[in-house]
Amino acid sequence: MRQKIDALLQEIAELKAQKLQEVEDIRVRLVGKKGSVTKLFEDFRSVPAEQKREFGQLLNVLKTKAAEKIEELREALENSASSNEPSFDYTKPGDRFDLGTRHPISITREEILSIFGKFGYAVAEGPEIEDDWHVFGALNFPPEHPARDMQDTFFISTGDNPILLRTHTSSVQVRSMEKMDLPIRIVCPGRVFRNEAISARAHCIFHQVEGLYIDKNVSFADLKQAILLFAKEMFGEQTKIRMRPSYFPFTEPSAEVDVSCNICGGKGCNICKGTGWLEIMGCGMVDPNVLKASNIDPNEYSGFAFGMGVERIAMLKWQVKDLRHYFENDVRFLKEFETVV
Ligand code: PHE
Repeated sequence: MRQKIDALLQEIAELKAQKLQEVEDIRVRLVGKKGSVTKLFEDFRSVPAEQKREFGQLLNVLKTKAAEKIEELREALENSASSNEPSFDYTKPGDRFDLGTRHPISITREEILSIFGKFGYAVAEGPEIEDDWHVFGALNFPPEHPARDMQDTFFISTGDNPILLRTHTSSVQVRSMEKMDLPIRIVCPGRVFRNEAISARAHCIFHQVEGLYIDKNVSFADLKQAILLFAKEMFGEQTKIRMRPSYFPFTEPSAEVDVSCNICGGKGCNICKGTGWLEIMGCGMVDPNVLKASNIDPNEYSGFAFGMGVERIAMLKWQVKDLRHYFENDVRFLKEFETVV
């Protein structure tokens, strides 16, 4: 009996299997009904009483070893089987490939340009890094005007002819008047820079679209008509405009333009703060001093100009509550404009 047990222990220690079926065969051969281990338990009955204790222990060890070995072989095969499976299922649908979306500021800028394009306005651009003359001097800013202060303007160099980041796209008016033949009818999109603390309503970088029309006999009525047509195209046919007197050094007279609130239809809501109106731009008749500074005779020519903030127009159109969303580029925000174009 001892020899049989030792022989089986030896056999069990050396067992190997390539397939799960082989493990099953081993199990049957050892501990199945007619298995060799089972058989030894049957033989145990005829072991003399004084040896039962010793052989009983040995048989139990054998039984445990057999069970452990079978389990070990099965596990080894199962693990390697799963790692041999193909790493992905070719029949599954692929990962969705996300396309980017256009930025709401780009969408809005293109829409503004396309509306004025239909009215015959060409697109003109100018540099973001400018000199004092194009941003202030030629636009009739007095030398002591606060906009020329470090508080509002980012200077690249100071001194007699300071270099600075343009604070408005009105500088492109000047550059265009210098080089274009008359009449001039342009819209000028671009980034502008102001030394302001960043908040929900202000940012140190934002976008403007400037408009300039210079011809013979251009009147304030022409300005009003151009802006009314723009407002209807941008915010809907029912949109009304109103003008409030204002001041800019480069236009005279000057006005701020409001559109009727497109949320409440002018009745008053929390977007328009109960007034029924939303401010969208500054405008006015080009000051004769500005025409003169660019060698245009104010007795022969007149013109109007307007300037609007692209972020502001986009905020009003889509009720964006915080300007900072435009700069953070959170895809959840950008995706909201996926269906706009
Ligand atoms: N440049 C002005 C601004 O930045 C806007 C403006 C443009 C006003 C043209 C009148 C005419 O606020």
